[in-house]
Amino acid sequence: MLEHLKDLHAQALEELNRIDNPRELELWRVQYLGKKSSLTQSLRSLAALPLEERREVGAQANEIKTALESILAEKQRLLQETFLSSSRESGTLDVTLPGRPLPTGRTHPTTQILEEICDAFKSMGFQVIEGPDVEWDYYNFEALNMPQHHPARDMMATFWVDTGVSGKARLLRTHTSPMQIRLMEKERPPIRAIVPGRVYRYEATDATHESMFYQVEGLAVDKGITLADLKGTLFDFCRCIFGEERKVRFRCDYFPFVEPGVEVAISCLACSGTGCRLCGNSGWIEILGAGMVHPDVLARVDIDPGIYSGFAFGMGVERIPMLRYGIDDIRLFYGNDLRFLRQF
Ligand code: DAH
Repeated sequence: MLEHLKDLHAQALEELNRIDNPRELELWRVQYLGKKSSLTQSLRSLAALPLEERREVGAQANEIKTALESILAEKQRLLQETFLSSSRESGTLDVTLPGRPLPTGRTHPTTQILEEICDAFKSMGFQVIEGPDVEWDYYNFEALNMPQHHPARDMMATFWVDTGVSGKARLLRTHTSPMQIRLMEKERPPIRAIVPGRVYRYEATDATHESMFYQVEGLAVDKGITLADLKGTLFDFCRCIFGEERKVRFRCDYFPFVEPGVEVAISCLACSGTGCRLCGNSGWIEILGAGMVHPDVLARVDIDPGIYSGFAFGMGVERIPMLRYGIDDIRLFYGNDLRFLRQF
């Protein structure tokens, strides 16, 4: 029995040496390692042998089996290698086959629209700056003509970080307007800047309300700036973002830090003004708050309102892709559902 196994081993090795293609190698595998091979048969018939012999033959057969398996693996690797290098040389490797695609990331829809907004204003000579998310009460409210018990504070439910004497408390900014003050404290006119950033509201969330969203603030201060400059700038901006065919409407509105204040609307993207569900049948969609910087605000940062004037504006960012792509729930933006995000 042992003799037979040894011969089998030698014969298998000799034959393997002559093999030079995968098809023959497979036949070899079936012959020497397959279920019906004499090696497997010998292992099966061990039970019939006397104990002493069984041990010896069993060990030997297993040893040969492992040796043949490992030399088979080595041979497979070698044949694969020679196959690849010869097909490379003979040009049968098709390099025009498409590669396997790698998964790639993409920019968030909010980032995409922020870049578009910034580009539109940069082309009009505005610089882009950012400010802190945690803000003093002074910048978020007081300096913007909203002292402690001003009713306009109620319109912006606030996340307080700490409480302190009026003006000294800290909060998560409820709008980007505080950056108007920080900008004017630091720089003298002429000023032309926009401020993109996150803002926070302590509100129950629903399809149109999130506790965190983005705004872009704008500020221009110089000698001789008038409401006509505000109108021209925002008119150009609206057409740049929403399309040349848009009508733009300016109406009076109230914000404590501007005088006069205006609300800017564009003709509805869905019905172009005839009235539909998207615009609540009015034909118009509000997208911006704006106005001429209040003289008291200028005076507070030591800019003489008798010499200088300016305009400011602020807009919600997510609303723009919502209108453009018909997204009906703002919460989708920050829910991290890739099925939503991958569409942009
Ligand atoms: N900060 C206002 C808000 O969050 C929007 C706004 C209105 C900004 C008028 C302005 C402005 O700069 O002039 O509701």
